[in-house]
Amino acid sequence: QNNLVIAFGGVSPEHEVSVLTAIQAASALKDTKWNPIALYITKSGQWLTGSHLLDLESYKDLKQSQEKGIPCHFTISDTGKTELIARPGGLFSRDSRIPADVLLCAFHGSDGENGAFQGLCETMNIPYTGSGVTASAIGMDKRLAKELCRQHGIPVVDDIRITEENWVENKQDLIEKCESVGYPLYVKPVALGSSIGVHRAENRSELDDAVEESFRYDSGLLVEKAVHPLTEINCSVLGDEDHFRTSVCEQPLGKEELLSFEDKYMSGEGEAKGMASASRKIPAPVSSEKTEEIRNLAGNIFSILGCAGVARLDFLMNSDTGEIFFNEINTIPGSFSFYLWEATEIGFDTLLEELISVAQK
Ligand code: DAL
Ligand code: MG
Repeated sequence: QNNLVIAFGGVSPEHEVSVLTAIQAASALKDTKWNPIALYITKSGQWLTGSHLLDLESYKDLKQSQEKGIPCHFTISDTGKTELIARPGGLFSRDSRIPADVLLCAFHGSDGENGAFQGLCETMNIPYTGSGVTASAIGMDKRLAKELCRQHGIPVVDDIRITEENWVENKQDLIEKCESVGYPLYVKPVALGSSIGVHRAENRSELDDAVEESFRYDSGLLVEKAVHPLTEINCSVLGDEDHFRTSVCEQPLGKEELLSFEDKYMSGEGEAKGMASASRKIPAPVSSEKTEEIRNLAGNIFSILGCAGVARLDFLMNSDTGEIFFNEINTIPGSFSFYLWEATEIGFDTLLEELISVAQK
């Protein structure tokens, strides 16, 4: 048996992106020994299975597709084997028990990427791909990830932390602290990805608005000094903390200096387009010395955080001075950053094989 449970969706603002990652991974696994089993978590948190859930067509009529989904949950059998129990409902229906050999963690954001779901997998004794509980939790918390990097001498941009309570009580102080860092500033939710809730502020009133707006997404924010002029450069790392390799670098391209959610994932008609067709330059147009510097930093950070599987690390480069800053890590990158590995001559199927082979036990 080679059942691979593909877990995706979830109660996360990056739900749609996760659906794309899961479907792209499932299609790359065709003709391999793996038998994909969908574990789709709806936006309201319901667990569903059914092969139609790994078909993009199903998401055109989400309601109907969810109605066809079969409620499911994990259980551990008498012999200690983890099983996915699918419970169709209806008077004469019987549960089906699907042995779960490995789980491909294809969530983005929130509980699926921050260690919570990883903890559930540990408890349910099912090997899962990607980073473990601790690395996932640190990776999702921009403040902790940056702090750990700072302590290891990795360059990061200056920031001020703002909590909701603090903002209400000491707003004036905080504004002054931010202003001492200097405009332009970026305001970011501590624990979100895909540029959601990130705002740029050029002056006090924009800062005020940006903070209020970002609190809609998270009760903890980071206000960071903007790198200007900015070139964003990303690099992916594959392996475990002791043995890993780094991919070629990409320059993601956005209309503005900061990639918006729409730039990353939506086509003009408001349809999801996925990571593969998001616009980017591969390899990133920087010197081979800079590329090496970024690849080294990426590998170092992957190892410092104790990551496993595949991660994408995002850097900010001052295009005038060439200074590089670590911005954030995605411990479950969109479509697992296969486009970077393809450019490194590792196909999506090989990437998935490696990812599965270092699955956490
Ligand atoms: N968080 C998204 C999916 C990414 O940056 O890859
Ligand atoms: Mg990101």
